[in-house]
Amino acid sequence: MKTVNVGLLGMGTVGCGTYKILEMNAERISKSAGVNIKITKVLDQNFDRAYQMGLTDDYLTQYPDEVLRNPDIDIVVEAIGGIEPATTFMLDAMNNGKHVVTPNKAAVAAGYEELMETAKKNNVEFFFEAAVGGAIPVLNSISTVLQGNEFLEILGILNGTTNYILTQMGDLGLEYADVLKDAQAKGFAEADPTADVEGHDVANKLSILMALAFDEYVKPSDIPTVGITKIEKDDLELATKQDCKIKLIARAEKKNGKLKYSVKPEFIPVTHPLAGVSNEFNAIFLTGNAAGELMFYGKGAGSVPTGSAVVGDIMQIAKKIK
Ligand code: HSE
Repeated sequence: MKTVNVGLLGMGTVGCGTYKILEMNAERISKSAGVNIKITKVLDQNFDRAYQMGLTDDYLTQYPDEVLRNPDIDIVVEAIGGIEPATTFMLDAMNNGKHVVTPNKAAVAAGYEELMETAKKNNVEFFFEAAVGGAIPVLNSISTVLQGNEFLEILGILNGTTNYILTQMGDLGLEYADVLKDAQAKGFAEADPTADVEGHDVANKLSILMALAFDEYVKPSDIPTVGITKIEKDDLELATKQDCKIKLIARAEKKNGKLKYSVKPEFIPVTHPLAGVSNEFNAIFLTGNAAGELMFYGKGAGSVPTGSAVVGDIMQIAKKIK
């Protein structure tokens, strides 16, 4: 059986999850893809996590070109996070004829147009299902089975860390700082959680969702964004009294041909399906003019759930390579 070789940039939370799944489900994956899929090179500055995963020195490198310009590598998975050097690495990989998969919402949202154009120019695939909603297959659904719809509205709970904080504070009365620490320990939060709690992570994800659903790219910095840092216990109590939950909501709607969008905490009536989305779970509530209302629900953060979407993207490309 042919082998498709993958180069992994970054053995962090998602890199480890991706590696774990490719090992754990190797038999099922090769049977379904019709090829073996192997991670053959891993780039990182520090090899501790790679060693913990059982990788030996011959797999590891600190030199990006050993992945990006490696003639044996078919697919590059960029899981470093942040905008740079991740974007430059992805562009470089595509310009060297590699397909690229990434969970990196910040880089995809910031460089969306250039990344898409570069993939097209080089006739390579560029997939980023894991960038929005972790394990939830929402981007693929929008681009494939729902592509015959005009989308009217998207409402999303798109950040595991803030949803975890709001749930634990609201339902259990816990303190903000303690819950944030807990979310960091569980691997939901970004290395610098400012992007989570100030709503920038959600703005990145909404930018990507809008580009696919409405075919309109809006820079994340142009999305009016308010995070959850000013939410207090009193607000959560008031929401409860009004039969509501406070959720950090990404909202995009098309009215009279004009797209309106925002990221902000909103009171959501307990009867709305999004009110029942707790802890690190994410959900995307979509309205299409043909499909009607749809809700996608699942784990939006964490090593293996996010790795699940990365592996799905790798397999789609591997099948095309085969
Ligand atoms: N920090 C992000 C979150 C990780 O909490 O949802 C997944 O994008």
